[in-house]
Amino acid sequence: MNPFKFGTIVENEFFTDRKEESEILKQKLDSENHVILISPRRLGKSSLVQKVVSELNQPYIKIDLQYVMNVSDFAAQLLKSIFKLYPYEKIKYTMGHFRVVPTISTNAVTGAMDVSFQSGNNSAIMLEDAMEMLEKVATSKSRLIVILDEFQEVTKIQEGFDRQLRSIMQQQKGINYIMLGSQESLMEDIFEKKKSPFYHFGQMMRLSRIPRTDFSEYIMTRLPKIADNKAVSITNNILDFTKCHPYYTQQLAAHVWELVNYQEVTDNVVSLAIEQLIKMHDLDFERLWISMNRTDREILLQIATGENPLQNRQKPTSTSFSAIKRLMRDGYIINIDKYEIEDPFFMQWIINKNL
Ligand SMILES: Nc1ncnc2c1ncn2[C@@H]1O[C@H](COP(=O)(O)OP(=O)(O)OP(=O)(O)O)[C@@H](O)[C@H]1O
Ligand SMILES: [Mg+2]
Repeated sequence: MNPFKFGTIVENEFFTDRKEESEILKQKLDSENHVILISPRRLGKSSLVQKVVSELNQPYIKIDLQYVMNVSDFAAQLLKSIFKLYPYEKIKYTMGHFRVVPTISTNAVTGAMDVSFQSGNNSAIMLEDAMEMLEKVATSKSRLIVILDEFQEVTKIQEGFDRQLRSIMQQQKGINYIMLGSQESLMEDIFEKKKSPFYHFGQMMRLSRIPRTDFSEYIMTRLPKIADNKAVSITNNILDFTKCHPYYTQQLAAHVWELVNYQEVTDNVVSLAIEQLIKMHDLDFERLWISMNRTDREILLQIATGENPLQNRQKPTSTSFSAIKRLMRDGYIINIDKYEIEDPFFMQWIINKNL
């Protein structure tokens, strides 16, 4: 089996390092505080949180706000998650306070509970009641962890939802919230703007790339045996290209592994893998490029070739700056130490096409 994995949360043998971040996160969860975790897309937020909570001996539930349709759906998803943690028979008495009674059914095949609220009722009440359940099942000995992934969606779900959620959350005891988000500017607006209901609501953590030494060892020990004498250079070539970005590193390493393992390619295998992966995404990249305006394209090309667009004299800085801001919001550019194109394959594609 391919020992590299990408595109889903990684655990156990697929997860490397993040020791420091894991420790910090654990410490923060050992208090009454809430945690805000921010990073560009696919840098490993969900995997880190999953790893930490599964190591703690505490119950946790997770809701991805991307898949929440409206407030009553959020309330229903909360209840559904609670029923996964605690047997319904044991906790049904805690539902006595419900002012709108949810419909609860059991899937006869899987045994999973399904919960829904009838629409048309006051969703604010459903939210309050469902949130109260969280406090009822949590105890001071066994604090409940509630993970709210893609939290930047909170402002888009329904008018006033963020305000209402915050006013309930701030009164609760025995619960730690972890709020994750990848659209950095939106997350910053939510937690750092004075007017926002979630202003300074938790302790902020930012995630960076995986340290090179850890990732090197991770890759080297997983390459097929026949590449043994080239393992060092293959690993270096992979990491030079991906700059230790976890997702792209695993993606490229997985493809390299296939080429070595099934086709016994060991010479220039990394360049070949990059070339093939770019080809596979050619249509997507092209579609993306066409959808962008000229300024965005120029900025991307400048960044791809190592230029700082803000130092380019041909355009007013304000024009470049707002384009960069837009491209960052949409995730095409990231700024960890400097402006970079998020996807190294897209970056190479831009260079190939334009130079
Ligand atoms: N600690 C790690 N060790 C090895 N690979 C990792 C690690 N963390 C993440 N990855 C790789 O990065 C990919 C993305 O990770 P994950 O889904 O956790 O990121 P995310 O920040 O939650 O992404 P998104 O912004 O899409 O929600 C994983 O599929 C895996 O390939
Ligand atoms: Mg995630």
